Amino acid sequence: MANTCVIGLQWGDEGKGKIIDILAKDFDIIVRYQGGGNAGHTLLIGDEKFIFHLIPSGILHKNKKCVIGNGIVLDPNLFLNEIEGLAEKNINVDGNLFISDRAHVVFPYHKKLDLLQEKQKGNSMIGTTGRGIGPCYTDKISREGIRVAELLHKEQFKEKLKKNVEEKNRIFVNLYNDEPVSWEDIYEEYCAYAEKMAPFVCDTVDLMARAINDNSKILFEGAQGALLDVDFGTYPFTTSSNAAAGGVSSGIGVSPKQVHNIIGITKAYTTRVGSGPFPTEIEGEQGEHIRKKGGEFGSTTGRPRRCGWFDAVAIQHSVRISGVDSLIVTKLDVLDDQETIKICTGYKNNGTLYNTFPADINILNNCELIYEEVSGWCEDTSGIRSEKNLPEKAVDYIKTLEEIVGVKVKMVSVGPERSQIISL
Ligand code: GDP
Ligand code: IMO
Ligand code: MG
Repeated sequence: MANTCVIGLQWGDEGKGKIIDILAKDFDIIVRYQGGGNAGHTLLIGDEKFIFHLIPSGILHKNKKCVIGNGIVLDPNLFLNEIEGLAEKNINVDGNLFISDRAHVVFPYHKKLDLLQEKQKGNSMIGTTGRGIGPCYTDKISREGIRVAELLHKEQFKEKLKKNVEEKNRIFVNLYNDEPVSWEDIYEEYCAYAEKMAPFVCDTVDLMARAINDNSKILFEGAQGALLDVDFGTYPFTTSSNAAAGGVSSGIGVSPKQVHNIIGITKAYTTRVGSGPFPTEIEGEQGEHIRKKGGEFGSTTGRPRRCGWFDAVAIQHSVRISGVDSLIVTKLDVLDDQETIKICTGYKNNGTLYNTFPADINILNNCELIYEEVSGWCEDTSGIRSEKNLPEKAVDYIKTLEEIVGVKVKMVSVGPERSQIISL
């Protein structure tokens, strides 16, 4: 099996967690390389549900290494809680979970700033997850951040934390007229985390280089989705990292030459949580129906997800920027009772036809949509496990998506559970 990267092609929550869990059995190492606690990857194994924010979704498989790369912004409290949750279910991560010493650490002042910035934006708020992602990446890029390696050196950490907190407090008090935070409290809290995290920390550049040398099979797990990529997504309504496949190399420290296969995950329709342009959004009862049937509520924040039709213009953009080799379509079952299903194939704005994804979000917010309509199959697909048993019209829908997007669909998911998957 070639080293494979799995990314979301929409605005996140495409079902990456479920797919990574299924694919992981054929790989030796599963790597998260960007994002942080904003991600929520859900796995359903029988009746047991797991939601991972930081830990790679391959962790339920024995004898696999799971790696949290340097591109991650890591909230130690969230990380340790996740490990505890696994321990309660008798899943031991010792010896198979690794954190990069170059990953950046999320602090309470990042979360506080995230919330204050959002409040300040009022109607134009991004609708972030409130997990401190933007402010932590801001510190990284402005070279103010604190990395895992520094957290483990108490004295060095103390000095840098003091300085960072002083600076953030000036912002909290003077700009936002809000309460300052105490560096002493944070120091104490984070020294305790550091002690618990230390056994997991290593030089993951070396770990990955050795793995590549040993011909280990690597699965790269994307978080968020290409339309939330800070460069190629619906900026500024994006996250703060490169969620398209381009994030792999800088996020874990392996050459782009080591990524041999790129799989794009898309829902059979589209969702988005938070604000920002969403051309194919379905308002009213029909949107509400899909939200209910698809259980479309955020895995991280519980917020209702906005629902819409499959947007082939957006997906083609995601496919292009990442060089996607094949598609996996999830949540086909959610469309089981739709009589007519729409696929958006173009946008029109001010007399101009767009079949490429515009950078200008004003166009995305004010476009007329060109739809192709196909008839639904009106049959329960959730119990189907092989292609030959799929309703003809469901196969037609998949084929139409393949033709429009120009990439083959390799698997279709028909329910949240691990076994609800069909290989094509
Ligand atoms: P991720 O962030 O991409 O891993 O996706 P999330 O876990 O946030 O959201 C996907 C949701 O859909 C989760 O609740 C999954 O259990 C669920 N899910 C995944 N695949 C399917 C599917 O094929 N059908 C249905 N009905 N639910 C699915
Ligand atoms: P997974 O990996 C869906 C969205 C937020 C918000 C924007 C910025 O589960 O697919 P941030 O907290 O990153 O600064 O928020 O990005 N967002 C996600 N939406 N799934 C995710 O992750 C997301 N991670 C961030 O809702 O609109
Ligand atoms: Mg999610």
